[in-house]
Amino acid sequence: MLILGIETSCDETAAAVVADGRVVLSSVVATQFELHAQYGGVVPEIAARRHLENILPVIQGALDQANISLNDLDGIAVTQRPGLIGALIIGMAAAKALSFTLQKPLVGVHHLQAHIMAAFLLETVPAFPFVALVVSGGHTNLYRVNGATEMALLGRSRDDAAGEAFDKVAKLMALGYPGGVRIEALAQDGNASTYNLPRPRVHGEPLTFSFSGLKTAVAGRLKQHPEILTDAGARCDLAAGFQAAVVDSLTSRAWLAMEQEDCSRLVVCGGVAANSRLRQVLQAHARSAGLDLFLPPPSLCTDNAAMVAALGYRLLMAGERLDLTGDVFSRG
Ligand code: KG4
Ligand code: ZN
Repeated sequence: MLILGIETSCDETAAAVVADGRVVLSSVVATQFELHAQYGGVVPEIAARRHLENILPVIQGALDQANISLNDLDGIAVTQRPGLIGALIIGMAAAKALSFTLQKPLVGVHHLQAHIMAAFLLETVPAFPFVALVVSGGHTNLYRVNGATEMALLGRSRDDAAGEAFDKVAKLMALGYPGGVRIEALAQDGNASTYNLPRPRVHGEPLTFSFSGLKTAVAGRLKQHPEILTDAGARCDLAAGFQAAVVDSLTSRAWLAMEQEDCSRLVVCGGVAANSRLRQVLQAHARSAGLDLFLPPPSLCTDNAAMVAALGYRLLMAGERLDLTGDVFSRG
């Protein structure tokens, strides 16, 4: 079964062709970051307009890369929620038009569930149940996943998401947008213990994340010591210290959730899972503790449409369909 996945929830226009929910035949991602960089973040109206320009060439690119034509498709999957409404509408309109003209089934998918499904594009896939840590720009959620769309929320951030914290701290450090990769690059040359930054906890809620206190701590250091911004070494140390605090917060709760759920399988996904320091810490601990870690490659952690097709395949097989009146939703 060949499924075309379409993803336009934020600032990446993406399309992919996936066979049987497992094999990625193509994955095309047109990023818009250079367009939003001058504003320091995603501007929804600009994102929607760029999606409109990109969507058809990106879909054609995915078909070409997979070496198939529209008629070879067996179904279409599109991100339906959560995301920027104006952005989601473009992907949905394209998906509906294709479904209608080709008379192929259409299904809408949840962006966060799709991130988790990226683990099913790995050579070895996780068995249910497993614990999933979804770390994206808008969400930091821990789930117990019992089936493709059966998941129980175990914990989430009470304030900023991890990706959001990366982006905000990058802004404070005048690193520009997008923040995650820039902090990662600086942190590579930094000493994480120069600045002792907090790992905020929420009393009585061990699986709840909180990142705004960490961001405030970075802002405080910069206010006290503005010279950090012009000292290359100090900048690297601060980036490394911040990154280490985020990685600690994420991994400590992931291990705790696995213990609590008595589950030895962990999926980590979403844009922040592309972070190489986080990946190193996860891999080292999983190896030493004998845990099964499922970590999609960076290109399948950041927004892409292969994950959308992977989930769409499972939903279509389960008989789910979206008709032409199907709407998009900003919330999950
Ligand atoms: O999943 P994603 O691509 O889009 C959303 O669904 O939000 O995640 C984007 C987030 C952004 O906040 C970005 O700064 C962060 O992922 N990110 C990273 C890295 N690459 C992307 N954060 C840390 N290190 C990275 N290498
Ligand atoms: Zn995402």
